[in-house]
Amino acid sequence: MDKRQLRKKMKDLRDHYPLEELQKYQEDIFRHILAMDIYQEAMHIALYYPIHQEVDTRILIHDALKHHKHVYLPKIKDGEMAFYELFEEDDLQEGVFHIFEPRSSKKVDPDIFNLMIVPLLAFNERYYRMGYGKGFYDRYLKNKNIYTIGLAYHFQKCSFQEEDHDVPLKKMITDSYANT
Ligand SMILES: Nc1ncnc2c1ncn2[C@@H]1O[C@H](COP(=O)(O)OP(=O)(O)OP(=O)(O)O)[C@@H](O)[C@H]1O
Ligand SMILES: [Mg+2]
Repeated sequence: MDKRQLRKKMKDLRDHYPLEELQKYQEDIFRHILAMDIYQEAMHIALYYPIHQEVDTRILIHDALKHHKHVYLPKIKDGEMAFYELFEEDDLQEGVFHIFEPRSSKKVDPDIFNLMIVPLLAFNERYYRMGYGKGFYDRYLKNKNIYTIGLAYHFQKCSFQEEDHDVPLKKMITDSYANT
């Protein structure tokens, strides 16, 4: 199966998975990350705003803002991804691909992040990720030393061909602790 077919298969699997099951898995994922030192100590966190049946990071956005952390979300402009601060939970507008993004127009410097939570469709045993196939994260993370964490359901783990431009994550958290 090539990368494109696998991407479609993993997207279908996730987006047709019973929501009640996913909610149970997410409880485990969030219990885990919320208790981690790296999360608790991070004051500047890059997150993503969820689409489809992605792990619902709105819980983290809410928790982080409540604890007076700075939260940043990606925005695509002129074919390039950059991060912008989200000052309030509902300070959002709909952007390209119908993904919600911050209203702020002030790009932040990637050096500021203590932690970045990265979206993914699949991951492998070496923490390489498969995204939606546009290469936005691979380009953004290239030559930067950002502490990246992927959040995923256990069934998103699979094998695929890693490419030279793919940037692996530093850590994976799933509902199945054996995978993390
Ligand atoms: N560092 C890079 N420099 C130039 N082009 C890149 C780079 N990284 C990725 N690309 C381009 O992006 C395309 C998509 O990459 P890939 O198939 O790895 O997507 P992905 O990892 O699923 O996407 P994303 O990073 O957005 O989640 C590649 O075919 C490649 O042409
Ligand atoms: Mg890639």
